[in-house]
Amino acid sequence: MNVTKVTDNIYQLSVNVENILFEGLWEMPNGVSLNSYIIKGEKTAIIDGVCGWDGVPESLFKLLDELKIDPKSIEYVIINHMEPDHSGWLEDFKQITSDFKILCTEKAKDLVDAFFEHSEDIIVVKDNDTLDLGKGHLLKFVEIPNVHWPETMATFDTLTGTLFSCDAFGSFGSVKDNNYDDLLRPEEIEFYEKEAVRYYSNIVAAFSLPVRKAIEKCQSLPIKIIAPGHGIVWRENPNKIIEDYSRYASYQRGPAKEEITLIWGSMYGMTEKAVEYVIDILEKEKINYNVHRVPEDSWGSVLTSAWTSTGIILGMPTYEYKMFPPMAALLEELGKKKVLNRKAFRFGSYGWSGGAEKELIEIMDKYSMKWDFLESVEFKGIPREEDLQVIGERVRELVKIVRETVYR
Ligand code: FEO
Repeated sequence: MNVTKVTDNIYQLSVNVENILFEGLWEMPNGVSLNSYIIKGEKTAIIDGVCGWDGVPESLFKLLDELKIDPKSIEYVIINHMEPDHSGWLEDFKQITSDFKILCTEKAKDLVDAFFEHSEDIIVVKDNDTLDLGKGHLLKFVEIPNVHWPETMATFDTLTGTLFSCDAFGSFGSVKDNNYDDLLRPEEIEFYEKEAVRYYSNIVAAFSLPVRKAIEKCQSLPIKIIAPGHGIVWRENPNKIIEDYSRYASYQRGPAKEEITLIWGSMYGMTEKAVEYVIDILEKEKINYNVHRVPEDSWGSVLTSAWTSTGIILGMPTYEYKMFPPMAALLEELGKKKVLNRKAFRFGSYGWSGGAEKELIEIMDKYSMKWDFLESVEFKGIPREEDLQVIGERVRELVKIVRETVYR
């Protein structure tokens, strides 16, 4: 656990978590930070918490000691969001002091009881309610439901203009002592931008409409600093992460970037022969593209690419009258995350029967994905020269459509 100063009387406690799957599911090649914040007025409040992830409460004791904060002086625990990466420390915290009040939304209150069998000293807050910590630190609560769970809120310190936004405006990527945009080099900011897209597409994407509503709500506040629950703090240019998140949310319905993601799977290398041909065409067309093989590449990586791409090419064979199963599973996930309105094209091999196309249509309909497909190219066995010619034409057509769509 690490402690850094955000601004006067406000400190960040941060823990990096690596070598786990986030939510038990999402690969994090560069880790993630869990951020907690302490505000010292005449009374002290702690927002969200991380000590449970550091093994024992002793680490929190030590840091509080460094900050000259008596743990027993922490009068308020503010729970912005009940997902256990933010709230899971509560049991550990109770070993430090039992005399504190929890502030959370009505929906969170139920979950505090459900998750931790804790129902006492809970103050339910709603939009625009305030908590006065003294020394000017008047905290205002802002409900931002479904960013990421229905009970989520943000907390705004009116004195310093600091928005403690929890999952909103967060990113993957472990942090160091310099986890502030004003202390990072441009290439480090670029790293966190990429990690923010990965985080957004994996964790928040399905809730892009609530994200847009939350952004509108937060923009009415005089924000000077954005201090999220994951990733770096934005105190030089908080508008950057707000604008980035607005853009990421807009990618849900498209258009996204001038970019194509090729997702493919192959059983015995027959579909793969056409994949090589498609990559060659994308190179010649000089368009940005990503290539992912299923099931080898993680869902998180494929989803990140699909989220930012206006065009998607699928290459997969038929398997037992259906689509190659890992591709079907991935497309279902893209549907659940609401990757909508993509410009698309599919090709693939079949042997004694087709069937992949039928399942593709079923998945698109099931999740109302509204992908606009060029006519698919299916070939029996290996692709012949004439098949490759048609595939090439379709890919060039898709590139043209992507460019027209992005710059319309
Ligand atoms: Fe960072 Fe939805 O938890």
